[in-house]
Amino acid sequence: MSRILSAVAWPYANGPRHIGHVAGFGVPSDVFSRYMRMAGHDVLMVSGTDEHGTPILVEAEKHGTTPQALADRYNRVIAEDLTALGLTYDLFTRTTTRNHYAVVQEMFRTVHANGYMIEKTTMGAISPSTGRTLPDRYIEGTCPICGYDGARGDQCDNCGNQLDPVDLVNPRSRINGEKPKFVESTHFFLDLPAFANALDAWLRTRSDWRPNVLNFSLNLVDDMRPRAMTRDIDWGIPVPLAGWEDNPNKRLYVWFDAVIGYLSASIEWARRSGDPDAWRQWWNDPDARSYYFMGKDNITFHSQIWPAELLGYDGKGAKGGAPGAYGELQLPTEVVSSEFLTMEGRKFASSRGIVIYVRDMLARYQPDALRYFIAVAGPENQDSDFTWSDFLRRTNDELVAGWGNLVNRTASMIHKNFGEIPAAGDLLDVDRAILDQSRAAFGTVGDLIGTHRHKAAIAEAMRVVQEANRYVSETEPWKLKGDRERLGTVLNTAAQVVADANTLLAPFLPHSAQKVHETLGGTGVLAPQPRLDEVTDLDDESRHYPVITGDYSDVPAWVSPTLTPGAPVPAPTPVFTKLDDSIVEEELARYQNR
Ligand code: MF3
Ligand code: ZN
Repeated sequence: MSRILSAVAWPYANGPRHIGHVAGFGVPSDVFSRYMRMAGHDVLMVSGTDEHGTPILVEAEKHGTTPQALADRYNRVIAEDLTALGLTYDLFTRTTTRNHYAVVQEMFRTVHANGYMIEKTTMGAISPSTGRTLPDRYIEGTCPICGYDGARGDQCDNCGNQLDPVDLVNPRSRINGEKPKFVESTHFFLDLPAFANALDAWLRTRSDWRPNVLNFSLNLVDDMRPRAMTRDIDWGIPVPLAGWEDNPNKRLYVWFDAVIGYLSASIEWARRSGDPDAWRQWWNDPDARSYYFMGKDNITFHSQIWPAELLGYDGKGAKGGAPGAYGELQLPTEVVSSEFLTMEGRKFASSRGIVIYVRDMLARYQPDALRYFIAVAGPENQDSDFTWSDFLRRTNDELVAGWGNLVNRTASMIHKNFGEIPAAGDLLDVDRAILDQSRAAFGTVGDLIGTHRHKAAIAEAMRVVQEANRYVSETEPWKLKGDRERLGTVLNTAAQVVADANTLLAPFLPHSAQKVHETLGGTGVLAPQPRLDEVTDLDDESRHYPVITGDYSDVPAWVSPTLTPGAPVPAPTPVFTKLDDSIVEEELARYQNR
């Protein structure tokens, strides 16, 4: 048994999330966490909404509201959507809690005291027409390194290099197109070069990461420059130092805010659980493991900046130092990054209506149909494309006709002939062969999920389904009416294999897994679901917000389950909804009309 931290990227609360987002961070982290719990580990899965910074500010302005009101609105929408998708967070919170402010400020004070925050005056961009600061990512221009024209002030998405807005050739504001003016401004920079050796040494021990993530991260170490951790902005966490604290226009930047959420959410979870120090088992113990889930645009955050902040807090960079009150915090075990999902061959672009919101998807289709698509065809190792025709085909041919049909025909033959799970008589080779196969799959599927190869894992589980369908066709139980013992044996075997496959599929398809479990006369929880609770801020009674949480302790073990002969099997109803071919045209029309 190990302690496993599932640290899931924090979505911006500047709008509803689309299926590309949940394909990147959501479903993969939930499949992994559900499996790890079934395999007997003690999982802590945390995340929340990222509510500070320019994306929220700009959106609030557009809607004529305050940043907090806008964040309140989308925090709720996002929390509801992730709950409906069945993502089993132990705590999904937000960055505007007083607890998060306190944890971020404690991190800052210690990293600063250890000597890793450099105060520097640089040239910052302002908008000539409004006189307000123009954050790096709201400036666009030509990359001075690779010549790409869509580079942002903070980073070029084409070559991956960190940039300064002053470096951009032909800079312009992404808000109104004007050319920014550069003026002097003082900021704190995290001394990344002081961590280069420690980061390099750590990354060289990470040989089991996905090669693209590891190589990208190792390349970053070659070009380490101090990186600004404060911004000229009035929406964010104050810098906890004399002379800064009361300046309403200086705030901590997202690099020193949202990523610290993994720690602050763990602490909030512990405080809410009644054992305020419980989080330490996942953060201070070198034997605990931590997995960070995100899309590839977030790798720098997690394999460079966050580990550097942890090293700074621990006093383990070139300048030494000592840990603060949280003690020595452990670096990530693995940064698990996925690639991008496109839609009908195009990049998601909410502004241009090229988007499928999680909410809309779940209003029309089963959550497990979306989860299945993401698991089998998501951007695990390379960019992948969501098309409605592919979604239709996979749902109808694989879920409905493959898995759903096996469950349905097995349960209805049992119901009609016995009304309960029949006992098995003597097994023939054909029975033993299928039982051996489904039992053996626990090892393979488990190892594959544990090493983040979900596509191969679900393919293996679906292979068991196929073999089971073949077993039923070959043993022809409908012709065994005259041999009740043999009929019982075949149907018992089929039910056992369905229960095995259902356990193997439970991390991927939790909603239907629970239903299949009950279809076969099972009782109790097979696949737990999260719930949305309304809570009060632990440090400010006037603030209330929704959190995702749940009790996931009561899960079955990752082994072939024991069927109980005699358990009543009612007449089954279909587990999956077959989709009509017309949905493809309907859905495509929705996007074309925008
Ligand atoms: N909200 C940011 C983004 O979506 C950061 C998410 S990951 C975090 O890019 F760890 F930094 F929060
Ligand atoms: Zn570039």
